[in-house]
Amino acid sequence: MRLKDCYNFADFRKLAEKKLPSPIFHYIDGAADDEITYKRNTSAFDDVDLVPNVLRGVENIDLSTTIFGKKLDLPFYCSPTALQRLFHYDGERAVGKAAQKFNTMFGVSALATVSVEEISSMIDTPKMFQFYFHKDRGLNDSCLERAKAANFDVMALTVDTITGGNRERDLRTGFTSPPKLTLSSLYSFATKPMWGINYLTKGKFELPHLQDFVNEGTSVNSSVGNYFSTMLDQSMNWNDAEKLCSKWGGHFALKGIMSVEDAKKAVDIGCTGIMVSNHGGRQLDGSRSPFDQLAEIVDAVGDKIDVICEGGFQRGTHMLKALSIGAKACAGGRLYLYALAAAGQAGVERALGQYKTELERDMKLMGCTKISELNRNNLRFRNL
Ligand code: LAC
Repeated sequence: MRLKDCYNFADFRKLAEKKLPSPIFHYIDGAADDEITYKRNTSAFDDVDLVPNVLRGVENIDLSTTIFGKKLDLPFYCSPTALQRLFHYDGERAVGKAAQKFNTMFGVSALATVSVEEISSMIDTPKMFQFYFHKDRGLNDSCLERAKAANFDVMALTVDTITGGNRERDLRTGFTSPPKLTLSSLYSFATKPMWGINYLTKGKFELPHLQDFVNEGTSVNSSVGNYFSTMLDQSMNWNDAEKLCSKWGGHFALKGIMSVEDAKKAVDIGCTGIMVSNHGGRQLDGSRSPFDQLAEIVDAVGDKIDVICEGGFQRGTHMLKALSIGAKACAGGRLYLYALAAAGQAGVERALGQYKTELERDMKLMGCTKISELNRNNLRFRNL
């Protein structure tokens, strides 16, 4: 199987599995507990049917949307995800350049393996920095200052990682950052020698936003669950979020909002957007899917701030459904991560291009030429 054989999400996933040592593949592919929420994030789209209209002159399709005051050519973007150089040696460089090619937003994680300075010198597409509230206030200030100086457009505070999710696949494989050879993982690393050669020869693995402050994840191996549980400040509350928002002084979003109550508070503290998200099912298993929760949140705050639906997207039609409910944009991690692992920048470009082609085709079949024409009349919920 090669890149040219990848036509959809499932194909990229299969190719990623072939390329990656299994602890790394399962880090991307896994989620919390029984992974019920992870599955539901995608299956939720199947409980709603599209109702198309016809005879509307659909030769020109405009997929653009505006979020955080920035016009994107696509109604979806690359969510921030950690540790990208473990998945492909170009890491964030590959994803950033692919996002730029499609003029969509690129989210950069605090746990990124390429610095905000390098990314902003490389691309001029809209950029979001994803921030974790660490116990180490020096680290927090440094992240904010560096992202500001690098002209990032949006700051997103992740609010659903107050403690580590129970990711049993990571426990079984012994996944850590940086990766550690263990008796159980030795075989999987030995069977993917190209990954090992690239990892060792294409530059040092680094976490440039953290390494001046913490050893975990940089020189000391740590699982992501352990990192969240020990390094992040569990006393974080709405006052802290409000202070961060005003300190940043620009577009500010909370990533991981699931309730109407919290969405309203996000408006009150000055946020300009929220990501309705359960962290790809990687934190609280049993949590509702972002798509299921979207309508009530859009109804409560959609006229005041940008509501973004994050997670579960594997098809253009999934995005059409979320946009029809009223999301301003769709976002996801795995939707480009398997493609990154499969073939670096070329893989991510192919994946983003396929979502774009699917969306254009689906918009024509729906009888809509602009994202703003999508609405709830286009949908029928099945009786569950
Ligand atoms: C994860 C974090 C790092 O879900 O976003 O693994």
